[in-house]
Amino acid sequence: MNPILDQLLVGALILAALAYFIFRKKKGCGAGCDCGVTKIKGLALQPFRWKLKQDAMNQSHISWDRIRADFPILDQQVHGQPLIYFDNAATSQKPRAVLDALRHYYEHDNSNVHRGMHALSMRATDAYEAARVKLARYLNAASAEEIVFTRGTTESINLVAQTWGTKFLREGDVILLTEMEHHSNLVPWQLLAERTGATLRFLPINDRHELALDRLDEFLTSQVKLFSFVHISNSLGTINPVAELCAAARKVGALTLVDAAQSAGHLPLDVQAIGCDFLALSGHKMCGPTGIGALYGKKTVLESLPPWHGGGEMIVSVGYEKSTYKQPPYRFEAGTPNIAGAIALGVAVDYIEAIGREAIFEHDCQLAQYAQKRLGEIPGLRVLGPPLGGARGGVVSFVMEHAHAHDVVTLADQAGIALRGGHHCTQPLMHKLGLESSARASFYFYNTQAEVDRLIAVLAEGQSRASASFSLPLGELYETVVTDHATRPRNFGKLEEGAVHVHGDNPSCGDTLDLHVQLSPEKVENIKFTGSGCTICMTSASLMTLKLKGKNRAEARRLMHLFHDQVAASPDTEAGRGPRELGDLNVLGGVRKFPQRVKCAMLAWRAFEQALNEADAGVTEGSISTEDAEG
Ligand SMILES: Cc1ncc(COP(=O)(O)O)c(C=O)c1O
Repeated sequence: MNPILDQLLVGALILAALAYFIFRKKKGCGAGCDCGVTKIKGLALQPFRWKLKQDAMNQSHISWDRIRADFPILDQQVHGQPLIYFDNAATSQKPRAVLDALRHYYEHDNSNVHRGMHALSMRATDAYEAARVKLARYLNAASAEEIVFTRGTTESINLVAQTWGTKFLREGDVILLTEMEHHSNLVPWQLLAERTGATLRFLPINDRHELALDRLDEFLTSQVKLFSFVHISNSLGTINPVAELCAAARKVGALTLVDAAQSAGHLPLDVQAIGCDFLALSGHKMCGPTGIGALYGKKTVLESLPPWHGGGEMIVSVGYEKSTYKQPPYRFEAGTPNIAGAIALGVAVDYIEAIGREAIFEHDCQLAQYAQKRLGEIPGLRVLGPPLGGARGGVVSFVMEHAHAHDVVTLADQAGIALRGGHHCTQPLMHKLGLESSARASFYFYNTQAEVDRLIAVLAEGQSRASASFSLPLGELYETVVTDHATRPRNFGKLEEGAVHVHGDNPSCGDTLDLHVQLSPEKVENIKFTGSGCTICMTSASLMTLKLKGKNRAEARRLMHLFHDQVAASPDTEAGRGPRELGDLNVLGGVRKFPQRVKCAMLAWRAFEQALNEADAGVTEGSISTEDAEG
């Protein structure tokens, strides 16, 4: 071959390779990209400004019906009624694009990331890192290196508590939280405080169920090293002024963490404008899959943190005695990550952005305000959170006179409506409000006003069917007996001297019960209870005490088993009249149709069983939780 031609050819090849490389670098790597660039390092992202576009505020151009059709799960009947999904604060539904992304990944690209030199591994790595870039843009982070993939908000907060907290927190330091935090933003700090000797303080809420900002100076002292707070309360719906809170924290030199579990999928978020040091989110609440989420951390702050989990991926080199660690975010991503989840979360981000977060926010807020107004029209119903017109996201929790949240949720479920009932993982807040639980409707962009109207109709009917007590569709006899026992529980009170006391609780719904049993070697001499719970729980306890008083121990145990068999039987079998020995207790046989309520019916009985065991062991104080029992 001609040597000059040879040289020209080599030169052209080098130039082409260079041009290709520059082009790929500029373009970045998209999902499914096979360019072989395995890491996107230091990629500075374009500043992203939130434009409140006129057309986004006027949602008339958006076809919400068409968007709804993207969610296959919504097209189904529950208990013979079209599904109305109002449990979005727990987890959102997933559009087809996200489901397809998961499937596509496993069908075409499944491989481990950051390790392989083969095509599949490079494709998987590119798609995984592209998702990080998308998330960084979505939050307006300064760089993709500020995004750590985690399993979700809970893990993100634990990561901060365990890395930052362990390194920087000392006895006498204060972590400031608020009274409206989710358990995920409480328990990690409690554990940290126990370990370090630091103190927890709580910014109070006011009568409007908003943060008492007028008391911020009192709480945000120079002792505070970290201020961690929720953006949108999952129980109250309150939207907190996060930028204002971060600015105040900066003044006293405290770091800030925003719990964005309820806001990340619902409104525009700009971490630079907010000015937070950390922000935690969950993919599954924003159209993404479960088991994936992210922690945003300011680069300089992340760099100052020690590793958390040790293992593969997070190291530079490993010796038998010592290792060196990668820079963030990889330092915090030990082991094989949730690759498919991260990629699908990237697709969820694309999906949400295609609709527009301003429009989503507007839609959710309007629906929540409408629901708040209509719910307020039902007699005896009280909506929690800011008053009408206040700063509320798409969450509306409420309590009904004479109706435990569990009963409300069961009634709604029978009409095909998915609500949430309980303490919503905000037990301290519920206690502060003097409540055990509340019912909650939480909205997303695929929900409609007609669905809210249906909820109102169902609740109003449930309220009017029985005047003294909220009724469940378990039959007329049930209604009569339950109305009687739930409103006038028998043997309600305490036994002091020599009685065995068992505290029972049903964490999923917030039922609590204290059972006092006076036992002789042969029989149940006396039995009383106190507590507060749903109608099923209270009725069961009341009827149980009537039934067991005076029975010998063996007979009492036999009745317990009979009752269990009656309520926990297959939902497909008719309760019929039930065993004669159970008498009125047979009205609760209908509970079998609601398997999730078996725990409510069994709480008092489980406490009784525990009391017998305690007595046998010579102990007089005990506790029982239905968390680990099937009912
Ligand atoms: C406000 C808030 N914070 C944290 C969490 C915990 O989220 P995850 O369970 O996805 O970690 C939730 C979940 O409901 C939440 O609502």
